[in-house]
Parts: sequence; C-alpha cells; structure tokens
Amino acid sequence: MSNFNREHVTHVVHWTDSLFSFRTSRDQSFRFESGQFTMLGLEIDGKPLMRAYSLASAHYEDELEFFSIKVPDGPLTSRLQHLKEGDTVLVGRKPTGTLVHHNLLPGKRLYLLGTGTGLAPFLSVIKDPEVYERFEHVILVHGCRQVAELAYGELINKRLPEDEIVGDFVKRQLIYYPTVTREPFVNRGRITDLISSGRLFQDINMPAFDRENDRVEICGSPEMVKDLRACLNAQGFSEGAGNRPGHFVVEKAFADA
Ligand code: A2P
Repeated sequence: MSNFNREHVTHVVHWTDSLFSFRTSRDQSFRFESGQFTMLGLEIDGKPLMRAYSLASAHYEDELEFFSIKVPDGPLTSRLQHLKEGDTVLVGRKPTGTLVHHNLLPGKRLYLLGTGTGLAPFLSVIKDPEVYERFEHVILVHGCRQVAELAYGELINKRLPEDEIVGDFVKRQLIYYPTVTREPFVNRGRITDLISSGRLFQDINMPAFDRENDRVEICGSPEMVKDLRACLNAQGFSEGAGNRPGHFVVEKAFADA
C-alpha cells in the first residue's frame, strides 16, 4: 500500500440519491495542483480498489475533498457511498491530470465547462488565487439533469465571495452559470447548445468564443467532451497537454461508473 496514504473521513454530505461528497484528512506531504486528480479508494480483502477522483478542495486547504456519484452496482462507489466519519480511505500519493492552467496558453477568459461530478476539478480551480491573476474572468458552467444535482451552488454563490483567501477575486472575476436540462430552471439546456446558440454568451454578457482570448477546460460526460472538442477544433482551438500548452484542455480520466 506504499503508493497510498491512509486518510480518515472527516465529513460526508449526500446531495441526492446519486451524488455525495466527503472530506478526509490530508497527509502533510501530499501536494497537488488545482484541477488535478488522484487515485482514491478502499482496501477490500487486503487489496486496494481504486478509481481516479478529482481534488475538489483547494491546494492550500488542510483537508481533501471529493465529489462522487453513487452507482448501485459500481464496484467502488457502491461501497464508498456508505462512508462515515472516521472511516479510512486510501489516497494515491501521485496526483496528475491535464486540467492545470499551465497547459493553457495565456488568455483573457477561462471557461470551466463541467457536467455532473465533472464540476469537481473546477472547485479547486475557482479557489486558486493564481488562476485569477492569470485570467480577467473565470466562467464556471455546470450542467446537470436536475436542479438538485447542482451541488455546491451555495458555496459558489454565498460562501466563496466572502472567503478570506479568494473572496475579492471571486466577487470581481468569477461568473457562475448553472444550467439544467430536464426540469425548469433559470438557465436551461445542454452546455453545447448554449454555446452554439450563443445563449450562454448573451446571458453572461461576454463575446462568443475567440481563439485569441478564450481558454477552456472541459470535464464530464464523454459525449459532451466529444461534442465540445469538435466544436472548438472547428474554430481553430488546439488541445493542450503535458509540455504543449493549447487553447483548451480536457480531463480524460473522468469516470461515470
Ligand atoms: P441531457 O439531460 O440532455 O442528456 P448525465 O447525468 O447523463 O451525465 O448528464 C449530465 C448533463 O450532461 C445532463 O444535463 C445532460 O443533458 C448533459 N449532456 C449529456 N450529453 C451531452 C452532450 N453530448 N453535450 C452536452 N451535454 C450533454
């Protein structure tokens, strides 16, 4: 188990029947960059059962936070969903991932586009002062089927603007645009449709995507990723990774089971 730290669960929140979050202790040696993921799991019959999980906590917070789906027959999430305070989880010691801002070319606006638990990596990004120093505006778009699935809305709308570390940045530079596809809500429709119709830009009072100024991070439904990648490629945006910064980046480790 030397590749993993044993951490204890400090807090659990159930958002819906299929979504929950939990916090854990954090080993002092554990370092990560905003937007990265690590392996997370449980020891089952003496063996680690692990999946990739984005870090939803800020890189400077004392605890780690994770945002998860519950899949009734999912090997890991069917067990993880029963976590209680004090339980032990295994956390991989080597966080990684493409959703880091140095994989992006300089720009004016940073769009963070996520569906479902694809919001998770962006929660660490929107708490990172460096991101606000690099971009004039940070636009977080979270798409879900139902209103109840728009987890963390209260944190983003109410608590973050008052936060000691990032509050002033958030008030001036963060735009939060939650959208729902299967029931009435103030913003409605798929992220892809909101972009292609121009509705998103109209609502947030920003110009449509342009390669000079806009940078995009994408995480969530594989279908959405595929469609957005095609849409951005068609506009001449290049995908960044590793040592090759681009106009947009995509998380490939997102798991939906
Ligand atoms: P929809 O309700 O129209 O399918 P899921 O819960 O299936 O992961 O979906 C999360 C959100 O992602 C839903 O609002 C869903 O919309 C949306 N979504 C699914 N496929 C796509 C796609 N290809 N492009 C944009 N959004 C999508």
